[in-house]
Amino acid sequence: MATKPAATSSSGTPVLSVQNLEAWYGESHILHGIDLNVNAGEVVTLLGRNGAGKTTTLKSVMGIIGKRTGSVRFNGEEIIRASSDRIARMGVAFCPEERGIFASLDVRENLLLPPVVRSGGLSLDQIFELFPNLKERLNSQGTKLSGGEQQMLAIARILRTGARFLMLDEPTEGLAPVIIQQIGHTIARLKKEGFTILLVEQNFRFAATVADRYYIVEHGKIIDGFMNSELQANMGKLHTYLGV
Ligand SMILES: Nc1ncnc2c1ncn2[C@@H]1O[C@H](COP(=O)(O)OP(=O)(O)OP(=O)(O)O)[C@@H](O)[C@H]1O
Ligand SMILES: [Mg+2]
Repeated sequence: MATKPAATSSSGTPVLSVQNLEAWYGESHILHGIDLNVNAGEVVTLLGRNGAGKTTTLKSVMGIIGKRTGSVRFNGEEIIRASSDRIARMGVAFCPEERGIFASLDVRENLLLPPVVRSGGLSLDQIFELFPNLKERLNSQGTKLSGGEQQMLAIARILRTGARFLMLDEPTEGLAPVIIQQIGHTIARLKKEGFTILLVEQNFRFAATVADRYYIVEHGKIIDGFMNSELQANMGKLHTYLGV
């Protein structure tokens, strides 16, 4: 299948520009030349089957994959060889699928723990305005939270750091439709406030409510890309790509 670069929706330097990214877990060669970019203020979604390399792509950008080659530029600066700590300090945040909250700590402690890497991190009051549920659950332990509350806490934690570029790995996985809708409202709100978001989703019906653009990942490569406005026209192809 020919590689077709996704249309871009704004000019200027992309916030994230990935070229020919390859990555390995030990001897396993997983990414075989990922090319993508994300422009300021966009919500871009990676779609693809299980094991396609979506999570590995996010982890590679974050610098938490041992061996990676190619080019990853963040606001024009090459970070392919930078440490994950340095990448975080530049304002890149990653919310993993497993959410990464501390189960033994309560909501307040979870919110106070993330290192502030840049100015502009959300205050607790701003977090509570965005996620009123978390305020009600302030003294609840991580383990006592519902899946939706855990996901909101996980997103809240990365908003505390001051990062303006957010990578969210399957934030709706396993959540009830009403919670998925809330997560959608949150992402839309963050976009409106100028955050730039790279999202991984299996649920493209959800993705369609927030995404500006999509890339399809297959076998560690980007095999297609289109704008949200082209989604309907691409539905047939999408079903084939995703096997749904
Ligand atoms: N820690 C690891 N060590 C070795 N191989 C791994 C590791 N993590 C993932 N893989 C392999 O890398 C490939 C890509 O995995 P990745 O997690 O990036 O896929 P994905 O697109 O996020 O899939 P999913 O939709 O299931 O989350 C898969 O074949 C997977 O088995
Ligand atoms: Mg994954």
